[in-house]
Amino acid sequence: MQVIIRPTREDASRLAARLIAKALRAKPSLVLGLATGRTMERLYALLVAMHRDEGLDFSLCRTFNLDEYIGLPPTHENSYRYYMNDHLFRHINIDPRNTHLPDGMAADLGAACRRYEEEIAEAGGIDLQLLGIGRAGHIGFNEPLSALRSRTRDKSLTPVTIAENSTLFKDPTMMPRRALTMGVGTILECKRLLVLVTGESKAAVLARAVEGPITSMISASAIQLHPNCTVIVDEDAAKDLQEKDYYRWIFENEPEWGEFRESN
Ligand code: F6R
Repeated sequence: MQVIIRPTREDASRLAARLIAKALRAKPSLVLGLATGRTMERLYALLVAMHRDEGLDFSLCRTFNLDEYIGLPPTHENSYRYYMNDHLFRHINIDPRNTHLPDGMAADLGAACRRYEEEIAEAGGIDLQLLGIGRAGHIGFNEPLSALRSRTRDKSLTPVTIAENSTLFKDPTMMPRRALTMGVGTILECKRLLVLVTGESKAAVLARAVEGPITSMISASAIQLHPNCTVIVDEDAAKDLQEKDYYRWIFENEPEWGEFRESN
């Protein structure tokens, strides 16, 4: 794992956008795993700007989102399908048929989850999976005690997650209590993980995820098991990390970060 600390949320989002753009240019048929949430809004705005201003091409890209609420139709403004259309898909040249989210409206949720895993496998697996970390320590909606080998399935949300996300609903009581999510095992099979965490409210959970013991109590700690994982954070989120000087040294000195140092 590499942890890269950038001064601000804007710098961190810009670096994440540039890494995604670089992966897409290297492989136009990239299978890209996506996340929703507040953290990703600026990143998606930057990708939209790169498409508009630099011709970043999504025409062959296929996407798989981590999760979706159970019981919200795609037309509901709080569904993750709506979020993705609104923040990214309708602003870029992606074929809507190449965009996938778990089907939280399926009559048979178990079958929908199995089908989702099959679709990922048929696409050849996810090349690059974008992740945020929730205050409950989750990646996707893998709440505490999610098995480290879990697959796409339905999950009850914790009170912390409900408190965090219900504020985004016009009527907070309407937030679903359950969601479909890729499992920790599904996420660990992605070829590369790109984790973006910003803001002081995430500092404590980030430190536990990155430098603490691997535990199903903090599903984000499972990223330590992944052989190709980059964690990009801003100074506010990095506040509680113990090895900050080492992480800074890596970004300032390792050749692979050279192109990102000069013009971030
Ligand atoms: C959303 C997802 C979640 C979020 C996490 C952080 O698709 O997978 O794990 O990344 O809850 O959300 P924000 O960015 O709103 O703090």
